[in-house]
Amino acid sequence: MTGLVTGTSVEQIPLARPILGPEEEERVLAVLRSGQLSLGPLLGEFERRFAERLGAVHGVAVSSGTAGLHLALRAVGVSDGDEVITSPFSFVASANVVLYERARPVFADIDPVTLNVDPEAVAAAVTPRTAALLPVHVFGYPADMEALEALGLPIVEDACEALGATYADGVAVGARGHQAVFAFYANKQLTTGEGGAVTTSDAAIKERLDSERNQGRAPDMGWLDHDRLGFNYRLSDIACALGLAQLERLDDMLAGRARVAGLYREALGGIEGLDLPCPDACGNRRGWFVFVVQLPRSHDRDDVVRALAERSIPSKPYFPAIHLMSFYREQFGHREGQFPVCEDVAARSIALPFFPTMTEGQVQRVAGELRSVLGR
Ligand SMILES: Cc1ncc(COP(=O)(O)O)c(C=O)c1O
Repeated sequence: MTGLVTGTSVEQIPLARPILGPEEEERVLAVLRSGQLSLGPLLGEFERRFAERLGAVHGVAVSSGTAGLHLALRAVGVSDGDEVITSPFSFVASANVVLYERARPVFADIDPVTLNVDPEAVAAAVTPRTAALLPVHVFGYPADMEALEALGLPIVEDACEALGATYADGVAVGARGHQAVFAFYANKQLTTGEGGAVTTSDAAIKERLDSERNQGRAPDMGWLDHDRLGFNYRLSDIACALGLAQLERLDDMLAGRARVAGLYREALGGIEGLDLPCPDACGNRRGWFVFVVQLPRSHDRDDVVRALAERSIPSKPYFPAIHLMSFYREQFGHREGQFPVCEDVAARSIALPFFPTMTEGQVQRVAGELRSVLGR
């Protein structure tokens, strides 16, 4: 696609772009021809392959990451009046799901380097009402799970952005045994358009989630037989077909993102005040999802986003601090200054165009325009 900027034709670089190939077409067509569009054989196959790929024991495919987080919180027993400690620097879904169960999201500030929730801040936020921890592996960088596990509370990991991330011991994010939740929205490392999956090592939780995502009907129960409250959080076989095709190419797709991240790191190095995503440390490996930078404090973030847009470079503020969103302010009386690290990072963060097939030329152009907008 091209766009006209000051009379010159320039390439419009998309913010995100999935790679879809003939494998997806074949698999989706096969589902259409089979006539079994949902609760068919691909559901179990996708769940098994997904869990296997991570080294997790069980997988439960669901209609979105949000649905998976909701079910996982219910499964660890979160209910009315409980508190769940989580990050204010995340996509809003990770806090909203706590409210679905009439519990309260309690925010803890983040680490300025990894941007993940700071385990010390989490420890300080624990009260007798704390029912669970909901750490987020932000931008695909593994959260410090050992420190969080040491607090001895049930954990639901928000791994929606972290497919492909691993710890120093080689264990994948999602394979530590807690409930971990992945998302397959169109911008994710693996996409089924909309979708998600929960991994767990607990057979009873697998059984409960299988049932609750299907209106409370266990897989061995008859049609219209429901023995508990449930939801329609199913993932269709059409979506599973997309997921299976992409699982086969996942290594390539992840390597593509890592390559683009490396190009950005080179192209954007040395700009004073510009913070790049933290490099992998202590043996942890990021599963690349987005390339988010924090702008120098000398610049207004919204002005930079506008100036980039004028140069046909889409970018977006990512993430705004959840506690300062109007709904959270009104419901819980949050105000500026409560989580200063998160607020500083959130005010300066923008996501740049990022997808596995991005060319070196495209990265150079984004980096060049950003340098020019920043006057560096
Ligand atoms: C950190 C985080 N949590 C939760 C979600 C929710 O996933 P979904 O959009 O599939 O419901 C997302 C997806 O964007 C996310 O990035």
